[in-house]
Amino acid sequence: MTHIPLTSAATADLLKTYGSPLFVVTESVLRQSFRDFSRAFSGSGFPVHVAFSYKTNYLPALCAILHNEGAWAEVVSGMEYRLARRLGTPPGEIIFNGPWKTRDELETALAEGACIVLDGFDELDAVNSLAKDSTRPAKLGLRLACTDNNGWSRFGFAGDDAARVLKQIAGNPALDLHMLHSHYGTNLGDPDIYGNAAARLVQLAEQARELGLAPALLDLGGGFPCGVDLTAYAKAITDSLRPLTETSQPPPALVLEPGRALVDPAMQLVCTVVAVKDMPGGGISRRALILDGGRNLLSPACRETPRPLSAIGTDSNDQPPPSSYTPAAVFGPLCMPEDMLHDAALLPPLAPGDTVLVHEAGAYTVTQSMPFIRPGAGVVLMGPDGPALIRRAETDEDLFSRDILP
Ligand SMILES: Cc1ncc(COP(=O)(O)O)c(C=O)c1O
Repeated sequence: MTHIPLTSAATADLLKTYGSPLFVVTESVLRQSFRDFSRAFSGSGFPVHVAFSYKTNYLPALCAILHNEGAWAEVVSGMEYRLARRLGTPPGEIIFNGPWKTRDELETALAEGACIVLDGFDELDAVNSLAKDSTRPAKLGLRLACTDNNGWSRFGFAGDDAARVLKQIAGNPALDLHMLHSHYGTNLGDPDIYGNAAARLVQLAEQARELGLAPALLDLGGGFPCGVDLTAYAKAITDSLRPLTETSQPPPALVLEPGRALVDPAMQLVCTVVAVKDMPGGGISRRALILDGGRNLLSPACRETPRPLSAIGTDSNDQPPPSSYTPAAVFGPLCMPEDMLHDAALLPPLAPGDTVLVHEAGAYTVTQSMPFIRPGAGVVLMGPDGPALIRRAETDEDLFSRDILP
């Protein structure tokens, strides 16, 4: 993946104006990611809706740009639902997933006509009791559990239970089966996972059809890796869905819920080197860099796979010769051993005050950053008219404003 170029002069200006560390969203990259993703599935023969997975990164400005590109919203809490509504998303373009939705949240989604994706029988009971007093049928999705994928198998209904849910929905005119849903995990490298999941949804759609139900949407969830040509994923899904073009008229639309694939490439974290040390270890001494941002801002993104790092200047003409690059252990500012961003990043000679960019920092970073030891970073959007602050840095006052001394 090519990294977004930020020149040393532009970066110095940004840090001077907005402080360090600083997240930077590049609007053109964000828009392009959405377009590339949509284009990969556009030849499927099915209408396609791309619902952005809010939890991946619910910066309002970022969600608004994706909606402007045509994204629906996939949300997993009332907080995310309300944000999607505040940003003008019509309820018909909101998919409400997740293992727990409060009664109030269910009531709002039902009254407004958003698609509630059922996760278990308790939720079905709650929807049943709300739907009987509702003026409109509850628009429901049924999440099929991926029983062969540990960790994710607890979400949704396994095969026999899914069949029971279909029967209950078919027997209750207050319930409308709008969608069949499946989500298999995140950063999935194998397109066949999607082909198999789609085949299972086709089977479920057949069972639904025998009961007189006709779901309008088939949702294959998120989990797509970023920086990858998704043609093989689109083919695996559409090959499996093909039988539906004969049995269902009109055929259902395909929904996809990407998070990481859309936002990871569009965001960088700009950090300042605050200290350089020689670290003894294993009989050798190696260079250690301490940055002003670490796992407090990037966790858990950097725990899965270290994010690519580059030093400022490497994209401009004043690039130091590659022969000067040596491996460095790169740490964040937390007083905790696990606050490491990379154990051997190849970087040029650096001194305190120099800048390091953490690339592919858009997914599961700002939403999972923690107010641990240091307040949160600000976020700047690099748009067509230049930089604009879209989230100011957190202050001590923000952090302690909810506390009460007894
Ligand atoms: C139901 C659902 N949809 C979509 C996503 C987005 O996944 P990703 O960011 O891997 O595309 C997730 C993430 O866990 C999810 O749980």
